[in-house]
Amino acid sequence: MNHSLNNILEAFNHMINDAIEDSTLNTNLEKSMRYSLEAGGKRIRPLLLLSTLKMLQPESIEKGMKTALALEMIHTYSLIHDDLPAMDDDNLRRGKPTNHKVFGEWLAILSGDALLTKAFEIIASDDTNSAEVKIKLVQLLGQASGHLGMVGGQTLDMQSENQPISLPTLEKIHSHKTGALIRFAVEAATIIAQIPQELSQTLIRFAEHLGVIFQIKDDLLDVYGEATEIGKPVGSDITNHKGTYVTLLGQQNAEKELSQHVNKAESILKDLSTSYHTNDLKVLLDLFHQRHH
Ligand code: IPE
Ligand code: IPE
Ligand code: MG
Ligand code: MG
Ligand code: MG
Repeated sequence: MNHSLNNILEAFNHMINDAIEDSTLNTNLEKSMRYSLEAGGKRIRPLLLLSTLKMLQPESIEKGMKTALALEMIHTYSLIHDDLPAMDDDNLRRGKPTNHKVFGEWLAILSGDALLTKAFEIIASDDTNSAEVKIKLVQLLGQASGHLGMVGGQTLDMQSENQPISLPTLEKIHSHKTGALIRFAVEAATIIAQIPQELSQTLIRFAEHLGVIFQIKDDLLDVYGEATEIGKPVGSDITNHKGTYVTLLGQQNAEKELSQHVNKAESILKDLSTSYHTNDLKVLLDLFHQRHH
């Protein structure tokens, strides 16, 4: 495989179709799962996992493909459920009508369920990694996506609607609802490459900054973005009375906070660049904070 980010992405997109077999039950479930997976997400989590692995151990990149796919499936399920009327009640996602608008609520709930469980099946069936590595990946992905990670963050986000929240609470919401899966992307690569603890801790710190950068940017785009560019409705957070970096700090201070995390992430990459090719991670870091969608 040629290892440029574009080629990685192309191979990755091909894997989606192979991973979801057509139903023998004669339902629309697989159609609904593919609809959201192929709707044109940015794929930043799989790219982050594969770029980190490529930096650590270029010859092992194939070993990250299945885990990257599993991660994108969990992310996609989280968005399908996030858009439901019971949560953010949004009509547009990835530039297309949201899953429940096309397939109805019950099928959207079930396709989220199926994507979540498929992710663990895919990792467990991955024959490019040892049983030991796979157990660690399953354990970490369960933590990152469950009640101690993304789902816990989504719960805090929902229960904080319509009330003033403090900055530490907002940080807690963001580090769980968004940060946990972004951190998993990097940590998974360190597990697959089986690198020493100290280096893995450094990379996890980098990922934690990326998570905050990503969500501050998401909050800014919700207010200052263009619906046609971001592919989802502008103003969803305001409509739902969510506390965000913009409502708590204002645009200028939110951007200041963003720059501080970018500087810290850049300085980690600079230190790493004496021993590793950090170019792809730098490209991703730039994408995280300069993106318009
Ligand atoms: C959106 O994630 C949801 C958040 C965690 C803020 P992305 O911006 O990565 O969504 P896609 O995958 O590109 O649609
Ligand atoms: C949701 O956060 C993050 C998830 C875990 C799905 P948001 O509600 O801010 O995401 P968007 O803005 O709808 O993409
Ligand atoms: Mg939400
Ligand atoms: Mg939302
Ligand atoms: Mg948002």
